[in-house]
Amino acid sequence: MTAQTPETIAYQNALDVIAKAEPTVAACIKGELENQRSQLKLIASENYASPATLLAMGNWFSDKYAEGIPGHRFYAGCEYVDQVETLAANHAQELFGADYAYVQPHSGIDANLVAFWAILAQRVEAPFLAEQQVKHVNDLSEADWATLRASFGNQKMIGMSLDSGGHLTHGFRPNISGKLFDQRSYGVDPATEILDYAAVRQLAKEFKPDVVVAGYSAYPRKVNFSIMREIADEIGATLMVDMAHFAGLVAGKVFTGDFDPIANAHIVTSTTHKSLRGPRGGIILSNDENLQPFIDKGCPMVLGGPLANVMAAKAVALSEAKQPEFSTYAHQIVANAKALADGLKSRGARLVSDGTDNHIVLVDVTPFGLSGRQAELALQDAGVIVNRNSIPNDPNGAWYTSGVRLGTPALTTLGLKEADMTEVADIIASVLKAATSNTTNAGKASKAKYSLGNDVIDLGRKRSADLLSNYPLYPEVTLG
Ligand SMILES: Cc1ncc(COP(=O)(O)O)c(C=O)c1O
Repeated sequence: MTAQTPETIAYQNALDVIAKAEPTVAACIKGELENQRSQLKLIASENYASPATLLAMGNWFSDKYAEGIPGHRFYAGCEYVDQVETLAANHAQELFGADYAYVQPHSGIDANLVAFWAILAQRVEAPFLAEQQVKHVNDLSEADWATLRASFGNQKMIGMSLDSGGHLTHGFRPNISGKLFDQRSYGVDPATEILDYAAVRQLAKEFKPDVVVAGYSAYPRKVNFSIMREIADEIGATLMVDMAHFAGLVAGKVFTGDFDPIANAHIVTSTTHKSLRGPRGGIILSNDENLQPFIDKGCPMVLGGPLANVMAAKAVALSEAKQPEFSTYAHQIVANAKALADGLKSRGARLVSDGTDNHIVLVDVTPFGLSGRQAELALQDAGVIVNRNSIPNDPNGAWYTSGVRLGTPALTTLGLKEADMTEVADIIASVLKAATSNTTNAGKASKAKYSLGNDVIDLGRKRSADLLSNYPLYPEVTLG
């Protein structure tokens, strides 16, 4: 019998303990691992965190309340929470070259909300309090408080349009950010499908937003944040970059100089669980010392007690990202995305913007006669997990869409390289070429129903499984 690894012992024992309390949960945790091991994961926002990062989340730090900031808590007994929060913030500062890091947000949306309210506190609340010659909102009269509350709702923002790759939290109506800010979108040049900076500048000059948001979740190109800062400075706006998707590429020094958000923006938000390969969570970075004190008030402004267990896991993941291997990993993510893009193009696919310079490849599936929904489901049949996504000026709307978004962070974590990505491109192209749209009762092409031969499904599954067998997920973990 071979000796068991520490990871196998840790997880096997943990599952035994969980199973004693609720066996279905233990079975589902195991099932999830089997599922993830059997699929080619090309979801651009997902990754595989290290066992150390995952284990740091599952412990008694979860039991502790620690509202406030290190050294200034509203609860006693926070010395170890203080240590992990400070450590995570220090790692983040060093990794990203930032003067300041706030590691409490529970997710990307929380990080954005803290950032928006920090900006509003700086731009709207603080000047109003000074004008009224009071220090705290509790010192305002009812009438002045009503005036301040109304003025929060009069602020303006610009962000990238959803079909150009922007995110709902950048001022869109279904999200709280759109209910808070009066928002206008900027987009891509219709011919090149690349961000049109001249149009952003023109919109900024005409609309005069208080906040310029840059960042995306489905834009396959890099963004010049130096130009975005120039535009923000020209109108006295605050530049906020949401680097949730590409934080790993910033950490790994793929995006530097004009493309480095921390060096160029007033405030940068991120998730920690996408290309950065950490636990599910958010962070905020800023080199603007005037804004930092307002970000520090994330609790109680937006957040309650921080998740100390997740901050501990952030510290682990950020220290991993400081290692030289992480930079190699980040560069490989982009090399793999380029190989995937080239492989798809040479097999007849049309890519939004004709390629990529980050971790995302956005495929227009309409030339295959499919909607994004059909393409997503057909690929899933063949063991390839992607998500459907709008493309610029999408004729199929936000539900069915006309594209699929592919991302390389997860497969790159497994160790796949450029030649493997060519095989992935071939599997994807073979499925998209073979799938056909069904016809509705009214005689129109369906946007949801499709047909795909079992031979194509079986071959796709076999090829996906063969590829994955060379790159096992969590090879150090063997569950009985
Ligand atoms: C650009 C961007 N910002 C924010 C978020 C929200 O992150 P979370 O799901 O952690 O709230 C996402 C998630 O998809 C994103 O892509």
